[in-house]
Amino acid sequence: MTFDGEVAIVTGAGRGLGRCHALELARRGARVVVNDLGGTVDGSGASTSAAQAVVDEITAAGGTAIAETSSVATEDGGAAIVAAAMDAFGRVDILVNNAGILRDAAFKNMTADQVDAVIAVHLLGAFNVTRAVWPVMRERNYGRIVHTTSGTGLFGNFGQANYGAAKMGLVGMMHVLSIEGARNNIAVNAIAPIARTRMTKDIMGEAGKAMDPELVTPVVVYLAHRYCDRTAHVYSVGGGKVSRVFIGVTSGIEDPALTAESVADSIDTIDDPSAFVIRGGPAPR
Ligand code: NAI
Repeated sequence: MTFDGEVAIVTGAGRGLGRCHALELARRGARVVVNDLGGTVDGSGASTSAAQAVVDEITAAGGTAIAETSSVATEDGGAAIVAAAMDAFGRVDILVNNAGILRDAAFKNMTADQVDAVIAVHLLGAFNVTRAVWPVMRERNYGRIVHTTSGTGLFGNFGQANYGAAKMGLVGMMHVLSIEGARNNIAVNAIAPIARTRMTKDIMGEAGKAMDPELVTPVVVYLAHRYCDRTAHVYSVGGGKVSRVFIGVTSGIEDPALTAESVADSIDTIDDPSAFVIRGGPAPR
């Protein structure tokens, strides 16, 4: 599965998962825009060295890449990232929205700044870069977009209400864009990764040993490839295990005379997940 002639943008590609995605896409022939602001895990600071180091790795291995150090968190940043790709390579086939930060706090202690910063990078960041790349992909009738969601948004995790909300926002955006992009052959999917990176190394302990970030990248490469015929799908991936996460609707009950009491009486039947349908995206499969 190669990408000869294609161009990929990977945000937050200066380290961790994004670096692995960028290296592998380049190894398979894509020309890559390595975007990274180069800050700390909480999003403070900035440095050009992270993105440039990955570009140097790609170049040393015989690939083609450019470094781009804008923040995804502003509309101008998103535009600049896509403009850099167009100036250097004249097209964009693949966008991997991966840049991310953490500002964890129990909800009772969470400040407005912690909420704003996390939503700005994860959710608005994906909006900013995707909005800039959308007309480019529509024009050429082709695109592969991969969002990076999280088990925190899908299932919950203590101390990450800001992050969980931002990450689940990406799933909502994915569902809508997969419908809007279908007629232009733009597929939009998401991964929920589990990997040992600077973001997680302190909390993973021993379990982190098997969680090489390189074991997440194959799903991104598949979703970025023209062979990928899935859209609006979410894949949980970590340590070599890959599963689909989906939103199902239970068979539930139908009662034209519904009352609060009948809901209470039937709540176990309404909740019963043994029979369900999946909705979401065009022609789900
Ligand atoms: P990381 O901290 O190693 O990498 C994130 C990169 O994003 C950093 O290089 C950082 O400089 C860059 N970045 C941050 N803010 C930016 C901005 N405004 N503009 C451009 N670049 C920016 O973390 P990791 O683990 O590689 O995370 C990658 C993505 O995967 C994130 O979206 C994260 O939330 C998500 N994720 C990771 C999990 C894991 O187990 N490592 C679990 C679930 C989701």
